[in-house]
Amino acid sequence: MSNNRSAFNEITPYIYGTTRLGDNSIPHGDRIKVAHAAMNAGVWFHTSRAYGGALEVLAEAFAEEPAKIPRLIIKIGWDNINQLRGVIEENILPLGLSGVQLGQLCLGGELAQDFAEGGHCYRVFQDLKDEGLVQGYVVEAFPWTSEPSLKALRAGYTEGIIDGFIFYLNPLQRFASNLLWNEILERNQAVIAMRTVSGGPVHSLRDVPGFAWKDYLQKRAVEVAPIFEKSAIKSWTEFCVRFAHSFPLVKATVGATSHVENLNEFLAAKESIEPLSQSIIKEMEALHYKWSDEVDVLAEPWTM
Ligand SMILES: NC(=O)c1ccc[n+]([C@@H]2O[C@H](COP(=O)([O-])OP(=O)(O)OC[C@H]3O[C@@H](n4cnc5c(N)ncnc54)[C@H](OP(=O)(O)O)[C@@H]3O)[C@@H](O)[C@H]2O)c1
Repeated sequence: MSNNRSAFNEITPYIYGTTRLGDNSIPHGDRIKVAHAAMNAGVWFHTSRAYGGALEVLAEAFAEEPAKIPRLIIKIGWDNINQLRGVIEENILPLGLSGVQLGQLCLGGELAQDFAEGGHCYRVFQDLKDEGLVQGYVVEAFPWTSEPSLKALRAGYTEGIIDGFIFYLNPLQRFASNLLWNEILERNQAVIAMRTVSGGPVHSLRDVPGFAWKDYLQKRAVEVAPIFEKSAIKSWTEFCVRFAHSFPLVKATVGATSHVENLNEFLAAKESIEPLSQSIIKEMEALHYKWSDEVDVLAEPWTM
């Protein structure tokens, strides 16, 4: 386990994901309103320059209530070490901040290779941290980007500099490959779970044509809906928050919404989180191991 977990100490169990704030089809005023509601709740935020105008919406809300500026995770990367500083600045300058709590390392190209081999990137990570641009790092994993993290973890390169891992972990997805997931469990690494509600209510994902972004999600919803029903939990949001936090390594789950009432469901669910029953978790884990081998690791990168 990393000996430098300071950035995690005050992480909130629910993190507000900001993709919807960048969606221009939602009235600007509604986006500002939900941003303020999440700021008032005191939860961490997850954001990126890649989320349309989300940073500009956040900048406006932050300027209106500077005392409530949240702690932030931003996506940084991408293909070589020389890009890192610029990408951080691209995020913090519009927000008027000098640094953020966590950088989410999205590793591609030479940077991924360097990371897997214990290269110079670790020195650069430390330098950016020493300058206060980020206070820590989590490494993003997808089924097709799990290998560099697996190699780096096994070799011990991440010790002392990487605080944990971040990937889709929700009832319908566990996007660390089976090998990486097993390594994360064995090495007791911290995890931030993304996409809390898997994109929306499970019955809509199962039954409403076109609601699921991809066919595989609709098929998974068919398998998961009976498990949700068996749990007798009324709210899908509550089921999902409890699902993520049923894994002791999970420190937080990141979910998005453009509606204050849906935000309130996330906020209610995070108040006292009880893990799901072991029988439900076992059933879900078996599905995740199966989906990972049969679908996820065989998929073309970025198609799911
Ligand atoms: N690679 C990455 O770094 C990466 C990739 C994907 C996501 N993320 C992060 O994770 C966050 C969440 O991801 P996501 O938006 O893909 O997945 P999500 O949080 O599972 O799904 C959000 C969707 O669910 C709907 N929703 C939320 N609560 C609801 C409720 N109670 N009833 C009905 N609908 C509800 C929201 O619609 P409404 O707006 O209508 O409420 C929204 O369309 C993102 O904002 C982002 O910060 C990161």
